[in-house]
Amino acid sequence: MQILRDIASAREFIRAQKRGSKSIGLVPTMGALHQGHLSLVSRCAAENDVAVASIFVNPIQFNNPGDLAKYPRTLERDVELLTSAECSAVFCPSSEEMYNTQPLISISFGALDKILEGEFRPGHFSGVGIVVAKLFNILQPDAAYFGQKDYQQFLIVQQLVHDLSFPLNLVCADIVREPDGLAMSSRNQRLSPEQRKQAAMLFQVLSETKAHLGKRPLSQLKSEATQKLSTVGIRLEYLELAARENLSILLEYNSDIASLLLIAAFVGEVRLIDNLFV
Ligand code: PAF
Repeated sequence: MQILRDIASAREFIRAQKRGSKSIGLVPTMGALHQGHLSLVSRCAAENDVAVASIFVNPIQFNNPGDLAKYPRTLERDVELLTSAECSAVFCPSSEEMYNTQPLISISFGALDKILEGEFRPGHFSGVGIVVAKLFNILQPDAAYFGQKDYQQFLIVQQLVHDLSFPLNLVCADIVREPDGLAMSSRNQRLSPEQRKQAAMLFQVLSETKAHLGKRPLSQLKSEATQKLSTVGIRLEYLELAARENLSILLEYNSDIASLLLIAAFVGEVRLIDNLFV
């Protein structure tokens, strides 16, 4: 596997692949890889001639400096995992390489970045949009793979691809879960053993709420969820039902609208998100 640490060598690698008419798939990540990432890489390798992963903890998408400082960084292990997942190359630039000056642009995604994650993490999606656009420009993928766990991020990237006419196919892959239902996330590494057990409650709450949709008022289901989580000290930030197409918030279940439940909560000081299609 090629390790590409700067933009010039990444461009050279990509040019060589394109000269050989190879299709390129990209899995953008922030590292601390888990089985969820590796399943994206395996799918990317199966569907493209060349699978490229990027590992970059993007400072401009963190609205909380503490969260950025504590984000797990495990590059050596990540490289080993990618090598065994048939990844052809990893692009792992430094912050200085990606941002030799602080970007002056910001990207607005209309209503989509004002709700849910956008409401609680101001500036987050502008930072995601900028780094993903840079990665697409540098690595020129024919296809890019994202996980459904960050469903709002997927819609943001879909809008970016549409508005900026990136010539690529976007794939949203299913959430990979631990045996107790917890969605795999790099942030899970920061949980204590006790918190790790409690964190499975996010998926339980999503599943129970889904099971009762349309049978009890949504407001009641939300207060039951808040209460259940608070008994083990988990602080719910939001639990919402929204349309899959554009994430407009639904006040009540409607079987005619394809929807999903989305949750964000703090387990200790670790903020986790998850969702479930309805
Ligand atoms: O989902 C992530 O890991 C990040 O938000 C992404 C897409 C790699 C951009 O930094």
